[in-house]
Amino acid sequence: MSMKHIMYKLMIGTVLVASLCCVACDKEKPGEDPQIAFGRQLFNDTKFDNIAGQTYSCATCHPGGDMDHKKWLLPPLSTDSVATPTLFGVSDTPPYLWFGEGGSDIKAVTRVVIDSVLHGSATEEELDALAAYQLSLIVPANPWRNSDGSLTMQQQKGKAVFEGQGKCGVCHSGEALTGKFKIQIKKLNPQVDVPSLRWVFATAPYFRDHSAATLWKVVSHYADSVQTGQMTTWGWNTLGIYDISLTEQEKTDLIEYLKTL
Ligand code: HEC
Ligand code: HEC
Repeated sequence: MSMKHIMYKLMIGTVLVASLCCVACDKEKPGEDPQIAFGRQLFNDTKFDNIAGQTYSCATCHPGGDMDHKKWLLPPLSTDSVATPTLFGVSDTPPYLWFGEGGSDIKAVTRVVIDSVLHGSATEEELDALAAYQLSLIVPANPWRNSDGSLTMQQQKGKAVFEGQGKCGVCHSGEALTGKFKIQIKKLNPQVDVPSLRWVFATAPYFRDHSAATLWKVVSHYADSVQTGQMTTWGWNTLGIYDISLTEQEKTDLIEYLKTL
């Protein structure tokens, strides 16, 4: 096992600890909006699950509003198993669901999850509270950043790769580093709505189908697919992306930056 592999194993360890911490941190806060507090309570309630006998709450798969690092087959949402997304910062990341088919109304998505996935039912008041709670979930402070929020020299170099040679910013743009269009970036994957990259250090494995275990695998996918000319074949030409090639150092810097998002 190389040093790099050990580093990534450690990284995933940190990720799990960070997620557990967030579950613990997501408690009712003094002076909180009662609707949000009610929404959190419902989010943790298994009463909507009529398919597995009151086993699953929203929080089973989205602990503390985050994600469980698992894939689920959730008909009728999709016909294959897909990664659970984090709901941190979800107010900034419509359209919802991997194909963007959830539109921009989180209450409507919640209704579909309860009615069609869990075969349960919720009142309008409950749906409004669940929506308010989810929209209140912010992206926690990033532990990879300097305490004043600034970037280290290496992270700054990685940012330059992200915006420059790596061309990541063409699709992952704006504050939430997302894009409001669908595109195919893996040979066997369908076209997917560009996901947000915030909190990405903590959400391995990556891609809708979990086909990349680490950020190193993700970055290598982008850099190496170009070398074999695959991205041009998938229509990336329309975005003017056909000559990404990154040195090992640039890949390492880029990952250090991704971890700060
Ligand atoms: C069994 C695991 C599981 C449970 C239970 C679950 N979810 Fe999810 N959730 C997922 C998966 C997997 C996806 C991605 C589905 C897709 O895009 O096809 C998802 C997607 C979402 C999204 C879209 C987020 C985005 O950024 O695109 C929202 C919102 C959401 N879930 C809210 C909820 C709520 C509210 C509940 C409870 C009523 C809930 N989920 C219960 C696994 C789960
Ligand atoms: C042509 C548009 C496009 C470009 C350019 C692009 N991405 Fe992506 N990115 C996507 C799409 C679409 C997905 C989701 C693909 C899937 O899951 O099948 C994705 C997924 C990801 C993920 C996984 C997110 C998750 O939650 O699983 C990471 C990390 C990522 N991209 C980083 C990068 C980096 C780093 C670059 C630059 C080297 C880059 N992207 C360039 C469109 C793009």
